[in-house]
Amino acid sequence: MKSNETRVTRRDLIIGAGSFAAGAALLSAAGPGFISGAEAKGTTKYPYKKLDLDEVGKTAYERYFTKFCANTTMGGIFIPLQKKVGDPYVSFPLDAITWAHGGIMGWGTACGTLIGAGMAIGLIAGEQGDPIINDVVAWYANNELPIYKPAKAIKADIKNVSKSDSPLCHISTGRWMKKEGVGFFTPERLDRCARVSADVAMHTAKLLNAWAEGKYTPANQPLANAKAFGLPVQNNCTDCHGSNIPKTPGA
Ligand code: HEC
Repeated sequence: MKSNETRVTRRDLIIGAGSFAAGAALLSAAGPGFISGAEAKGTTKYPYKKLDLDEVGKTAYERYFTKFCANTTMGGIFIPLQKKVGDPYVSFPLDAITWAHGGIMGWGTACGTLIGAGMAIGLIAGEQGDPIINDVVAWYANNELPIYKPAKAIKADIKNVSKSDSPLCHISTGRWMKKEGVGFFTPERLDRCARVSADVAMHTAKLLNAWAEGKYTPANQPLANAKAFGLPVQNNCTDCHGSNIPKTPGA
């Protein structure tokens, strides 16, 4: 860590829900500066044009039911760009990322929406996109989702929103299912994940729009948790470890 950055203690970050936001705010105070979209020109073969967020959300929501979370989140951004820019968006094989659904084929790791968003950001912004996907993950973990409301539900109306406190498909989907009282293979859960896909695609496009205008400032310090704990990790230690949180040899 550079000397002018704020040192966040393990204690600041460990204590339960809400701690992430506090830690992130502290870290972002000393976070990376302004990133200009103009600086990124020439770094990518995927030129970006500002997107209409409603179109992004609708495209992702509707595509979900045949392509699932990762493909549809990426599609929510790429399909409007196919219309605005053409190639290379047109020839990009979106089916190459369908495997990430269910946190990689039902293994419950990272939510596929985040993998789809990260892939889109990476192709568009290259390494300048690293803080953007970092912000998308933090936003996903810290908000009650889904926010998106379709004009008419494709599979089912749903009642609940929930905060995952985690980027994991397993925890995010499981928490929502418990609240809603439905199983995984139900129309309600499908509609929930379609709406979350729309949310993540829209939030990603919002940050990319700001980046393209040269107005994007990272909200969270990349690798903050890994640096604070000495191990790549999400912040919700007690969810899995209870009160008995292990220490790393190096942290
Ligand atoms: C999604 C569940 C989950 C979360 C969240 C999580 N861990 Fe873990 N962690 C595990 C599992 C499972 C292991 C393997 C435990 C074992 O092998 O005994 C592990 C292992 C570790 C280890 C390796 C040493 C050991 O005793 O196993 C450390 C250190 C650790 N976790 C710290 C943390 C900290 C600190 C946090 C929060 C910042 C955290 N973990 C959040 C599930 C989690």
